[in-house]
Amino acid sequence: MNALVRQTAEALVQTRNAVALTGAGISIDSGIPPFRGPGGLWERIDPLEVAHIEAFRRDPEKVWQLLLKGMQEFLTGARPNAGHTVLARLEEWGYLRSVITQNVDGLHQAAGSRDVIEYHGTFAYQRCMDCGRRTATPRVDLSRIPPRCDCGGIYRPDCVFFGEMIPPQHLERSHQLVARCDVLLVVGTSATVYPAAMIPMLAKESGARVVEINPEPTPLTGRVSDYLIQGGAGEVLDDILACIHAIRDADGAAPSPY
Ligand code: OAD
Repeated sequence: MNALVRQTAEALVQTRNAVALTGAGISIDSGIPPFRGPGGLWERIDPLEVAHIEAFRRDPEKVWQLLLKGMQEFLTGARPNAGHTVLARLEEWGYLRSVITQNVDGLHQAAGSRDVIEYHGTFAYQRCMDCGRRTATPRVDLSRIPPRCDCGGIYRPDCVFFGEMIPPQHLERSHQLVARCDVLLVVGTSATVYPAAMIPMLAKESGARVVEINPEPTPLTGRVSDYLIQGGAGEVLDDILACIHAIRDADGAAPSPY
């Protein structure tokens, strides 16, 4: 067994005070492309042209056509994968307090995670730019681009565009959680977008062990994170869960239901 997997499983069992920060990499196995790297969205389109709030204000139809319509198609029918499921199990067993996700796909909640902070908002709802009405995405008529509210205003997803603030309650709660956690699992994020990329640094400054799970090194590797477990999120998290099973069995703990 990978020694780093073992160390991480032991830390989760001992501290019972871990938080996960997730990014697009955890949803790749669910068929949702990442933003950066091979096959990433930003390889094909310039984020400043389509993901900045000023770009949306200037030309909402273009942003819906080039980015949002495609995102909606990827998200429709996407199902949680092993990575999401393991994080939900860890929360259920009391080894993980919360998930802070940069993803807008709702897959952590679909897998059963209960305490999920959607740092960059959610695509599950659309908000009218004029009257502010919030409507569940499946109830919005997306055959017309840009989609419009009954008041005539244009709908935007309830997520954070570049150039916008992180909702203050998400920012505050995330910072409180990481300031108190003993282990931070950083899963499937390039850790290049701020302020989310600050979260591992805050955890480290507060004395937490910072564990990266990613097939590739990131700017955190060797500087902020204690170590990188190199591999896909589903595969590595599955190994960590199996190791927790083994530790529980060796301790004579009641068998887990899974
Ligand atoms: P990125 O697309 O920047 O990074 C995806 C990360 O996932 C990379 O580090 C990959 O190496 C890694 N990865 C690839 N396959 C993986 C796998 N099977 N398991 C685990 N990791 C894997 O995504 P984010 O870091 O989430 O913001 O991007 C951060 C923000 O940039 C997004 O929330 C979005 C974007 O622009 C906004 O739109 C505001």
